[in-house]
Amino acid sequence: PSGGFVPALVIGSGYGASVTALRLGEAGIDTLVLEMGRLWDGPAPFCPMLTPDRRSMWFRTRTAAPLDSFLWLPVVNRDIDPYPGVLDRVDFPNMKVYVGRGVGGGSLVNGGMAVVPQRRFFPEILPGVDVDEMYGTYFPLANRMLGVNSVDPAWWEAADCYSYARVSRADAAKAGYGTSFVPNVYDFGYLEREAAGQVAKSALNSEVIYGNNHGKRSLDKSYIPAALGTGRVRLQTLTRVTGIARDGDGTYAVQTATIDESGAVTGTALINCRYLFLGAGSLGTTQLLLTARETGALPGLNDQVGLGWGDNGNVMTARANWKPTGCVQASMPTLGIDATNDPVPVFAEIAPIPAGVETFASLYLAITKSPERGSFGYDRASGTVSLRWGSTQKDFAVSAAKRVFDRINAANATIYRHDLFSGNRAFGDDFCYHPLGGAVLGKATDLYGRVSGCPNLYVNDASLIPGWTGVNPFVTITALAERNMARVLAADGLHN
Ligand code: FDA
Repeated sequence: PSGGFVPALVIGSGYGASVTALRLGEAGIDTLVLEMGRLWDGPAPFCPMLTPDRRSMWFRTRTAAPLDSFLWLPVVNRDIDPYPGVLDRVDFPNMKVYVGRGVGGGSLVNGGMAVVPQRRFFPEILPGVDVDEMYGTYFPLANRMLGVNSVDPAWWEAADCYSYARVSRADAAKAGYGTSFVPNVYDFGYLEREAAGQVAKSALNSEVIYGNNHGKRSLDKSYIPAALGTGRVRLQTLTRVTGIARDGDGTYAVQTATIDESGAVTGTALINCRYLFLGAGSLGTTQLLLTARETGALPGLNDQVGLGWGDNGNVMTARANWKPTGCVQASMPTLGIDATNDPVPVFAEIAPIPAGVETFASLYLAITKSPERGSFGYDRASGTVSLRWGSTQKDFAVSAAKRVFDRINAANATIYRHDLFSGNRAFGDDFCYHPLGGAVLGKATDLYGRVSGCPNLYVNDASLIPGWTGVNPFVTITALAERNMARVLAADGLHN
């Protein structure tokens, strides 16, 4: 069946897609946004983090949290009914990638840390992108649009819920490492009211990876209402794009499948558009492009599609520090350890363990400058796309993180915890939160996300970033998307 024609179509509703939709709408271009997840609306749509139900994860029969055991016991995960839940884990050999599903994409499940990369690293993060323009215009714009705010340091120093971060700060200082506050999109004014017992708790109720019921300015509270408010943007949920092709008249044909809450396909459609914007995230966008190239649906795509994927050097680790770190830990991180002057630069987010009980542990998500890159391959027999990531490709990142935390352990006479990641491991080295690349800027696309060999086809999400941002990536994804749209709308003559 035909779904008709729209001038512009955006696939996905995460950071890149939301920016794209807003700027298209403001330019008067009628735009349809397709999102495979659901709209998470209503007063408190998300399930509790410590007693997850079907709303927690995308069509699974058991939750799959990154810290999957405690004192070596499998007490963390729960059986659930399959449902279009908010957090997905896409499993490839040696690499499990966590992504958000729903209107707002990763903004629904992430820690809200809104970090601008250090300027000195930017030429390596996005080669060919004007540094002055990014730091003068687009990073400030992204921060403003996302509603980024900073915690009040005086309140923070006395807050019980950040005792875990103060303990880690002191431990890092003993090893000679400084820390810095990181901004967030969680409303710290709301958090102060949570701590004072004045409002419903969210960050103080362990909520994060399965969604925050309060306090967080996710994209469904920032860019997406602004996009819908232009009157030019429509949003269709529970609709997955299953294929893209280019018709003889130069329009793009987008194949969709709509599902119900059980996952059953309730309808398919073919929607034609003049301008197609891919914002399905690093995995989603790369999968659509690679499939289109390998099946001949978009034969003009170049050989860079599917290359340059990285995990932002993500490594998780935990220390047993013998000191109490607090029963109630605010789930929104506020502090990072700056080891960016080490031989391999490392920025380690001091993460909460929102278990609701005293763990005597400190948790970290280290972002290491790992040169390892993966690539995607298309399997003709099954028609599926898979990430190729070798079993030793995390070794570099682990050794960089280990260098930092060995030093912190030595300075504090502490040791690693081995009970939190299954398999008795000290390092969570088989997953990532920050998938980047697959359709890299200046390689699979030009320097503004225009896909090489396919007029009017654009990539505008994490796929453009070649594998590493040095810090948590969503401000960079947002700022780059703003920059690309400014150029495309000024230069490409888009019309209805
Ligand atoms: P994003 O992944 O946000 O959105 C893509 C959307 O497209 C999704 O909604 C998906 O459902 C949809 N989609 C995919 N394929 C589709 C298809 N075929 N058809 C229709 N829809 C499709 N970053 C940071 O800066 N600070 C932080 O604190 C954190 N913390 C964090 C924690 C956790 C648990 C996770 C999983 C991730 C983070 N991140 C983070 C990472 C951050 O969330 C991530 O980098 C961005 O969401 C990526 O933005 P994109 O716009 O690329 O896509």
